[in-house]
Amino acid sequence: MQNPDRFFITGGVPLQGTVIIDGAKNSALSIMAACLLTNEKSILKNVPQLKDVYSMIEVIKTLGVKVVWKDSNTLSIDPDDFNNYEAPYELVKTMRASFLVMGPLLARLKKAKISLPGGCAIGARPVDFHLKGFRALGAEIITEKGYIQAEVKKLIGNDIYFDFPSLGATENIMMAAALAEGITMIENAAKDPEVVELGTFLNKMGAKISGLGTDIITIKGVKELNGVNYLIIPDRIEAGTFMVAAAITGGTVEIKHINPYYLKSCIVKLEEAGIKVDIEDDDSAIISNSGNIKSVDIKTMPFPGFPTDLQAQFMALMTIANGTSIITENVFENRFAHAGDLRRMGADIKVEGRNCIIKGVKKLSAAPVMASDLRGGAALVLAGLAAEGTTEISRIYHIDRGYVKIEDKLKNLGAKIKRE
Ligand code: UD1
Repeated sequence: MQNPDRFFITGGVPLQGTVIIDGAKNSALSIMAACLLTNEKSILKNVPQLKDVYSMIEVIKTLGVKVVWKDSNTLSIDPDDFNNYEAPYELVKTMRASFLVMGPLLARLKKAKISLPGGCAIGARPVDFHLKGFRALGAEIITEKGYIQAEVKKLIGNDIYFDFPSLGATENIMMAAALAEGITMIENAAKDPEVVELGTFLNKMGAKISGLGTDIITIKGVKELNGVNYLIIPDRIEAGTFMVAAAITGGTVEIKHINPYYLKSCIVKLEEAGIKVDIEDDDSAIISNSGNIKSVDIKTMPFPGFPTDLQAQFMALMTIANGTSIITENVFENRFAHAGDLRRMGADIKVEGRNCIIKGVKKLSAAPVMASDLRGGAALVLAGLAAEGTTEISRIYHIDRGYVKIEDKLKNLGAKIKRE
């Protein structure tokens, strides 16, 4: 059964103080999968203690890998006994990112049987690009009884073009191609920081990958890889969420342990909205809002465009902006579930296909609302921080998938939030 915890947030407190950002969830997940590409132990530091990380630990343990927490943020991953090629439905259904073990399974065991991830709250999210890529590398793939079964005698490098720069597909193919024979070229590859980090991690393991952070990634296959020690980058989405928290409450918050370059589009949009952003020492930012929030239009795009994972949080901010803003979701076809709940809190939002038209209102008011997905849930927390009265948010297990102790971090900034 899912955790029945709820948040109760009494809004209206301008947040003040300092918050420290944890390691990046999505970077940790792909790098954990990449640890299976060798039989040597790897040590990962700055791993966030999150539900999605626990789910990935379960998946790789099922495959026969030893995983131990060395301290609260350090994971030791030892794939010496890695021998099982099946990732069952019970595990994959809790987190789509489990599908990232397919590349390492094909590269190391030449076989994979993975439950087909279903649709999810934010869209159909197929895995066809992943499968097209694996087929191009020589894998035979069938889908039977809800499982994808793949086999390959030998992975052989090839040219692969993606119709859309998919983060997961780029990562999965990069991992398989690292141990393939010959050269793989991924065109229209994702340029996200998490892809760059995974490539950097793989190179540290001994892979030969170039073009990271560009549209064309070239991977020269090698015979074997070795275990490494690696520090996970800070989570740009957690950082962006706290930036909006400072802005929406009219507070001043120092956000420490960030990479401002990876947050560029978020920072630009905050500044356009009239929020002051001071970058300090290249790894922290002070966000302050002493006046009105201006309405701004936002279009989500693959990196370096505005991240879809911050769309919901910016929608919360725009609900109390001066004027009308249009948010266009270009990455996922169905990612506006939070709009309905924000409306319950007094927001004026009209959803038209991939566009949301948000007319700023003077204030939001508390209402019982329900998180329907991770980032949509975060948007409700932000709205609750700004609203008059006490907002009750249910299904916060979605939020726990991606935010480490969000209520403690907000409480430290003065927010009135409790978990019950
Ligand atoms: C990753 C992130 C997620 C983020 C998303 C977009 C992880 C664990 N998750 O998800 O937080 O919101 O990137 O930045 O890193 N698509 C296909 N076929 C495929 C693969 C993708 O049609 O085989 C489509 C998707 O439905 C979506 C778009 O491509 O519309 C982008 O998806 P993708 O970048 O693959 O997202 P994920 O890797 O699943």
